[in-house]
Amino acid sequence: MTQETLSIRNNSTGEEADFDLLKGTIGTPVIDVSSLNKKMGLFTYDPGFMSTSSCKSAITYIDGEQGILLYRGYPIDQLAEKCSFLEVAYLLMNGDLANTQQQQHFEHEIGQHAMLHEAMRSFIDGFHYDAHPMAMMVGIVGSLSAFYHSELDMNDPEHRRISAMRLLAKMPVMAAACYRHSIGYPFVYPRADLSYCENFLNMMFSLPSQKYIDKDNYIDPVAVKALNLLFILHADHEQNASTSTVRLASSTGANPYACIAAGIGALWGPAHGGANEAVLSMLEEIGTVDRIPEFIEKAKDKNDPFRLMGFGHRVYKNFDPRATIIRKACHEVLESMSGSDPLFDLALELEQYALKDDYFIEKKLYPNVDFYSGIIYKALNIPVDMFTVMFTIARTSGWVSHWLEMMAESGQRISRPRQIYTGNELRHL
Ligand code: ACO
Repeated sequence: MTQETLSIRNNSTGEEADFDLLKGTIGTPVIDVSSLNKKMGLFTYDPGFMSTSSCKSAITYIDGEQGILLYRGYPIDQLAEKCSFLEVAYLLMNGDLANTQQQQHFEHEIGQHAMLHEAMRSFIDGFHYDAHPMAMMVGIVGSLSAFYHSELDMNDPEHRRISAMRLLAKMPVMAAACYRHSIGYPFVYPRADLSYCENFLNMMFSLPSQKYIDKDNYIDPVAVKALNLLFILHADHEQNASTSTVRLASSTGANPYACIAAGIGALWGPAHGGANEAVLSMLEEIGTVDRIPEFIEKAKDKNDPFRLMGFGHRVYKNFDPRATIIRKACHEVLESMSGSDPLFDLALELEQYALKDDYFIEKKLYPNVDFYSGIIYKALNIPVDMFTVMFTIARTSGWVSHWLEMMAESGQRISRPRQIYTGNELRHL
């Protein structure tokens, strides 16, 4: 087989060098410029990584033009329809779907790792009652590195696997604990007889007066199904900002819990996972259908920082397949749980309005996964400031899968970009 190459020529000096073209299983070919500096004394410049692949990965594939999203080769819509979140988490972490016995074992193990160290309760108690739950999550997840440090041998695959399982298992428990702390309610321990999503709802809302659980321990299956769906859709998205942050931090050999805490920090921003919270605030601010044109004009105005939250995506330039699934789920959840939500009707109108607008058509701006996810979370009674925490729970499955993949590779190098220096030339005091 002939190796495909590509020549780069410096038009100033006439100097030319060949570089390998790398091809994945599917997707755009990639120029291997790792030897560019050695061969030509040059670096590349690509702020925001618009054209740069940072790694090889076998976990998730996205075709942004076609609106395709595959986890380990399986289309997202099939996984969303047929699997539970923990089945998808197993798939992401291990490469294939589990058989029944493997899945039972996996879920049993998740149950065993769910408990938090009792000392974490006083750590959580240290936060002020109105601390943002994402701020608490960054701190609490990072603190796991203090609880599980000495027993971690990063060169041992089994130690790494246990760290990943611990993170996945404890994430909903920590998330619910943050919420309970913010409302001053006692923590609820995870239960071995409940599934991952049931457990989360129970830990969040376990009070006789709450709607998820009645006296016979009945948890609304619609809520559980909706949560599974949202977690699956948010589980992974290849080298997004937070996953890249986890990989970058991990490249230094840092403790995995600290690396995932770094990912949580990156996810928090409104341009990334914070968008679901921002969408709800935006819809509330718009308020009524007649104000939509005013806000569309604001979004188009270059002098106004306002952006239509939940619209646009770095990779999807046609449609976000997750948004299509979520829009449908919104109808089902609202019909079954709360009847209707004026914010959902407003969101539908806003979407239609924007999709017909030349600005959004030309720039290929479509609703992304978070345009509708907040409406479902709201219907499930999840408070708005917990929306990004919900994303964190789901994305942990992706983060740990990438961490496991990366740590298993040989010849790891620290991630260390270059820069174009624009400061002063050498000067003396
Ligand atoms: N509203 C109005 N204009 C927008 C929007 C928007 N939501 N998104 C992009 N644009 C415009 C930009 O102003 C830019 O215009 P220009 O070419 O005239 O300068 C053009 O479209 C391209 O936008 P970029 O910001 O360059 O695109 P990028 O790929 O860097 O950003 C992003 C993608 C961050 C998602 C952006 O579309 C955005 O801010 N959207 C709103 C926030 C959001 O919903 N984030 C969630 C993303 S999905 C996720 O992380 C789960």
